[in-house]
Amino acid sequence: MTRLVSALPGLLLSLTLSCSAGGADPASGQGGPPSTAPASSAQAALDRLDDRSPVPLIPMMALHMKADMKDHLLVVEEITLALAAGDFEAVDESASRIAFTEDLANRCDHMGSGAPGFPELGIEFHRKASGIRVAAQARDRDGVLRALGETIQVCTGCHARFRQEVVDSAAWEQRTGSSAPHSH
Ligand code: HEC
Repeated sequence: MTRLVSALPGLLLSLTLSCSAGGADPASGQGGPPSTAPASSAQAALDRLDDRSPVPLIPMMALHMKADMKDHLLVVEEITLALAAGDFEAVDESASRIAFTEDLANRCDHMGSGAPGFPELGIEFHRKASGIRVAAQARDRDGVLRALGETIQVCTGCHARFRQEVVDSAAWEQRTGSSAPHSH
């Protein structure tokens, strides 16, 4: 028993290593030594497997986009719960975070400047979300649900078509023909 307990940390360490090193050699069935391949080759392997179109982004933009996305999901959560409670004002208020504005449209243009089709889908998403507000202001429950469903359809459509590709500023400038924003 004592021997088993004292062997545990080593066992756990080797398990952790084989996971973080991208897996053992499946052919040997034994779990060979941890791979020393750099992360970039693992990323290249993922890019080959993922056939969605890349949206090139510098790291700061990629992070901002993901923060926006998480807030989009939060909006969907808030709208669903508010609708269940019959609180149309709360539905309208939450939907206003994703409803169309010129500022959001410009943001889509900027984020998608290296990904043809991305800005248009982003703008369509914000336009569908405006429909949630219209229905909420009319206190039309089915209308809110329909507009929410149509909005989510654009979310899932875009996720099926695009993936992030994190690049450095020089590559971003080359791919978009624009000058890269400064990181902060
Ligand atoms: C115009 C395109 C587009 C639209 C519209 C869109 N997304 Fe995304 N979203 C993306 C891309 C691209 C990613 C990154 C996916 C990847 O690289 O695998 C992403 C990632 C996410 C993530 C993961 C964030 C993270 O931290 O990893 C969430 C959550 C998400 N989106 C939620 C939503 C929701 C909810 C909606 C609609 C209400 C939505 N998105 C609409 C393009 C879009």
